[in-house]
Amino acid sequence: MNKEKSIELLNKAVSEELTAIHQYMYFHFVLDDLGYDLLASVFKKIAIDEMLHTEKFAERILFLDGEIEMKPASEIKHIREPEKMLEIAMKSEEEAIITIF
Ligand SMILES: [Fe+2]
Repeated sequence: MNKEKSIELLNKAVSEELTAIHQYMYFHFVLDDLGYDLLASVFKKIAIDEMLHTEKFAERILFLDGEIEMKPASEIKHIREPEKMLEIAMKSEEEAIITIF
């Protein structure tokens, strides 16, 4: 695989991670407001994990002398029902695993 294609794919991964960070922080904010403290803190922790994943991809892009685009892949979903949030999070993580493998 050439360097440009690698940088492109790494930026795509960064985009997916940024979307996940935004979505999970949104869930954290809403759940915290609704009084679901424990679930809110879980989504915040997951968002921080996604930031660390982003950092790894960004470091690799810079190693390849590429530019980190920092563009989220998509808009977040505005959902206020905890059950629906969990469904969306599970679906997103399953899709991420399928993309990797
Ligand atoms: Fe991730």
